[in-house]
Amino acid sequence: MFYPLEKLHLLHDGYRRAFRIGRIDLLLIQEDGRTFLIENSCPHMQAPLTHGAIQQGVIRCPMHGLEFNLLTGRSPSCASSLKIFMPAYEGNLIGVVL
Ligand code: FES
Repeated sequence: MFYPLEKLHLLHDGYRRAFRIGRIDLLLIQEDGRTFLIENSCPHMQAPLTHGAIQQGVIRCPMHGLEFNLLTGRSPSCASSLKIFMPAYEGNLIGVVL
């Protein structure tokens, strides 16, 4: 099922918005022209990543500083990976299929 999240024309570099669908917290991000959709919950201790610093496709958790690749979800210092979602598109909307 497609869940719309945002209108495509509202995305821009620096865009960041948190969503909740059912029990899933999502974070939609656009940086350097690339769009990422991740679970908004750090795999270390479930802190929200909404205000995590992003640099070169890596988000840094504001709680303890672990870093996660936004494409793979992997971290060099955490055994658990951040959950990554594939953005889905319908008309002028970006969303997610769950
Ligand atoms: S909760 Fe994110 S690094 Fe600890």
